[in-house]
Amino acid sequence: SRLIALVPAAGSGSRIGTAVPKQYLPLAGRPLLAHTLAALLVHPAIDAVAVVISPEDEWFDSYEWPQELAVLRCGGASRAESVANGLVQLALDDDDWVLVHDAARVGISQAALTRLIATLASDPVGGLLALPVPDTVKRGDSENRVADTLPRADLWLAQTPQMFRAGLLKQALAAAPLAEITDEASAIERLGFSPRLVEGEAGNFKVTYPQDLTLAEALLSARAG
Ligand code: CTP
Ligand code: MG
Repeated sequence: SRLIALVPAAGSGSRIGTAVPKQYLPLAGRPLLAHTLAALLVHPAIDAVAVVISPEDEWFDSYEWPQELAVLRCGGASRAESVANGLVQLALDDDDWVLVHDAARVGISQAALTRLIATLASDPVGGLLALPVPDTVKRGDSENRVADTLPRADLWLAQTPQMFRAGLLKQALAAAPLAEITDEASAIERLGFSPRLVEGEAGNFKVTYPQDLTLAEALLSARAG
């Protein structure tokens, strides 16, 4: 079976608030998306990399991209819809592995990719990178008063990549409410399966708010230097 990376990059970046979608913001001299794709393209265990962009994307074609990159212009209204549409476009066998990775997570390291892929190689379900929650977690009520303190020991923050067999992932997304789910694992969970949590890393944060760009730039230049 093959291992295919699928990168949803069809969002608008509303929380970062720039006119240009965040995947095209300049970071260390290249569009943000280029850094994410490069990390996947260079990994020896990944057989092919595909990116999902919006059919209305006005920016992608202004840049040069690696020739081996597959470009799918089928982004949807939600991240999950973009992933589901992308899976339809790829000719995959049911037992091929799909590694879904957010365009906005530029800091993914080769070591974290290797850890995820190696840990899941013979896993019956698949899984995701995730970080144990470092802070004490409160549930708040509508007046911002603490309703509850959650036991931190069991809590993880989901990252990407999330890696599942193509057949199972397609089945899970076909059954899930795509507007509501924010990751692949939750669709798999809805089928009754329990994805494996593999330790991620702080540097694999998602560029979401303006201040995240400064952090990402520092991380990438530290690695390059
Ligand atoms: N994404 C996508 N299709 C969508 C929405 C999001 O492919 N309809 C992608 C984004 O491009 C991003 C990843 O999913 O790489 C994670 O989503 P997020 O960080 O939420 O990005 P945006 O949706 O672009 O940002 P925001 O939610 O702030 O608008
Ligand atoms: Mg979003």
